[in-house]
Amino acid sequence: MISGKTNVCGVIGCPIEHTISPLMHNFYAGETGLDLAYLPFLVQPEQVEAAVRGAFALNIKGLNVTVPHKQEVLPYLAGLDEAAFVIGAVNTLVRTKEGYQGYNTDAAGLHRAMQEEEVTITGRTCILLGAGGAAKAAAYLLAKEGAKKIYVLNRSVEKAQQLAGYIRQTLGYQPIEAGSLAAWRQIDENSCLAVQTTSVGMYPRVDDILIDDPEFYEKLHTAIDIIYTPAETGFMRMAAGAKTMNGLTMLLYQGVAAFELWYPEITLSEELIEKAKQLLIRHLEGQA
Ligand code: ATR
Repeated sequence: MISGKTNVCGVIGCPIEHTISPLMHNFYAGETGLDLAYLPFLVQPEQVEAAVRGAFALNIKGLNVTVPHKQEVLPYLAGLDEAAFVIGAVNTLVRTKEGYQGYNTDAAGLHRAMQEEEVTITGRTCILLGAGGAAKAAAYLLAKEGAKKIYVLNRSVEKAQQLAGYIRQTLGYQPIEAGSLAAWRQIDENSCLAVQTTSVGMYPRVDDILIDDPEFYEKLHTAIDIIYTPAETGFMRMAAGAKTMNGLTMLLYQGVAAFELWYPEITLSEELIEKAKQLLIRHLEGQA
C-alpha cells in the first residue's frame, strides 16, 4: 500500500517503456517488506537538468539512469564514485543532503555475473568487441581486475584507439591495444575471454553477427554478450564451443548493486536474486 511514508525511486530515460527495472526493484521491495515504489520516468533530453533537480525537490530517494542520459546527468550531481568517474557515465543516483551522488554499477554488475559463472579475468587475454559506453564499462572492469591483455576491436578503429588510450591514461593500464573487427587474426592465443558490447544481434535483428568467421570463435574460452534479447544471440551460438553468457545476469546484478546502494542495510539473498531473474526471464519471453 502506498502511504505518506512511501519512499519513491525510479528510472529516467528516453524511451522508457521497455525498461524492466521497475519489475526488478518493486519485486525486491515487496519481498523485503520495504515501503518503496519504483517508477519509470520518461525524460526528454532537454529536460535532464530539470528532472534531476525536480527529483531532488520531490524527495526522490534514488534513480536509475538509462539511455540516453547516462552522461548528460553528470553536471547535475554532487559527486561520483570511481567507476562512474572513469567510465564517465552513471546509471544510479543516490540521494545525499548535498544532492545526488552518481554511481556506475554496470561494471560491478558484469563482475558479479562473471563471478557467478566462475569466469576469471585476472591473467586472461581479453577481446572487447565494440568501443561505446558499454565497452568502456567492460574495459574498466577488465583492466581493474588485471587482465593479461585487452584487445579492443571495433568497426571504427579510431574509436577503439580512443578507448584504449583513455584506459592507459586514466588507469595506468598499459597492455591494451586497438584494432579493427578483423584484427582478431593477429591474436595468437586460444583461451581468450571475449565481451561483445555492441548492439549487433539484438532483437529484432537477431540474425546479425558482428564477426561471422567460425575461426574467430576457436580462440575463445568464454564468450559474453551483453545483449539479453534474444536470450541466445548469434554471437553466443557461434561461440558454442566456449562457455557462453548473455547480458541478463549483468543487468540483474547492476540492479542489485543499485538497490543495495539505496538500502545499505539490506543484502539481497541469492535466493531472492534468482527469483528476480526468473521473473525477468518470464517477462522477456512474454514480450518476444
Ligand atoms: P553503447 O553506449 O550502448 O555501447 P554506443 O556508444 O552507440 O552504444 O556504441 C555502439 C557500439 O556498437 C560501437 O562500438 C559501434 O561501432 P562504431 O564505433 O564503429 O560505430 C558498434 N556498432 C553498432 N552498430 C554496429 C554495426 N552494425 N556493425 C559494427 N559495429 C556496430
